[in-house]
Amino acid sequence: LQKPKPIVIANWKLNGGIDLICTSVASFIGKHFDAQIAICPPYIYMRDMLTFLQHSEISIGSQNVSKFESGAYTGETSAQMLKQAGCKLCLIGHSERRAMFGESNLSCQIKVQTALNHGLLPVLCIGENLEERDANITKAVIFRQLSEGLHNINLEGKELCIAYEPVWAIGTGLSATPAMAQEIHQFIRRELAVLLGKETAGRIRLLYGGSVNKTNARELLAQADIDGLLVGGASLDPGHFLAICQLA
Ligand code: G3P
Repeated sequence: LQKPKPIVIANWKLNGGIDLICTSVASFIGKHFDAQIAICPPYIYMRDMLTFLQHSEISIGSQNVSKFESGAYTGETSAQMLKQAGCKLCLIGHSERRAMFGESNLSCQIKVQTALNHGLLPVLCIGENLEERDANITKAVIFRQLSEGLHNINLEGKELCIAYEPVWAIGTGLSATPAMAQEIHQFIRRELAVLLGKETAGRIRLLYGGSVNKTNARELLAQADIDGLLVGGASLDPGHFLAICQLA
C-alpha cells in the first residue's frame, strides 16, 4: 500500500517573535519540499507569516480553534475567521490544552466538526501521560480519545490528521523509539478502521510528536504507519526545522 504524502507541522506554542518569523521566512522561501509543511505560530503572528509566505509551499496553521462560531466568547478565534485569514489547518486537543486549559474529548469532538465544516484540516492530538503508560493503559486511553473525539464525525470527502504525542516525550528530549511509536500508530490505524471504516482509516495521516529532531526524524518517518511529524522545540530553530522538513 502506498503511503500518503507526508506532513510536517511546526508547533511554536507560546514562543517566537518577529526575529523568528524573519529567519523562518528566509529559510523556507523558495524551497521545494516533497512533504506538506505547515507552521503554527501564535495567533498574533499568523497574518505576518501568511503575507510573507504566500508564494511559498508553507501553510499556516493554528494551535487551537474555538468550538463556538461567534458571539460573546472573549479570547476565542473561530474556525471561519481562521479559514478566511488563509489558515489551512488547526491543532485540536494538544496535551498542553488538555492538561492546562480543561480541553476534553467532547470539546475536541466539537472542534473537529467545526474545523471540518469550515474547510480547515483538523489535526487531533492524542497521547498518554507517563502514569498511564506505567499503568499499562496506553491503548485504553488512546481508544477513548479517538472514539470520543471522533464520535459521529463524517469524513466523507474530508481530510483529517491524528497526531500521537506521548505526553512523557513532549519537551523532554526523550522521544518514543520508532518501534514504540509504530506500535501505537498501528493500533490507532486499526481503531480508526473500526470507527470510520478501512478506506477512511487508510487515508488519515498519522503524525508522531514528542522530542522529534533531525537525528530521529528519518527513522520515525520510515515506520509503516507514521505519515508525518509534529515538531515543538526543534521547530524554533529554522535551520533545524528545515533539515527535518527536507528529510520527509
Ligand atoms: O506539538 C508538538 C509538541 O508537543 C512536541 O514538542 O518540543 O517535544 O518537540 P517537542
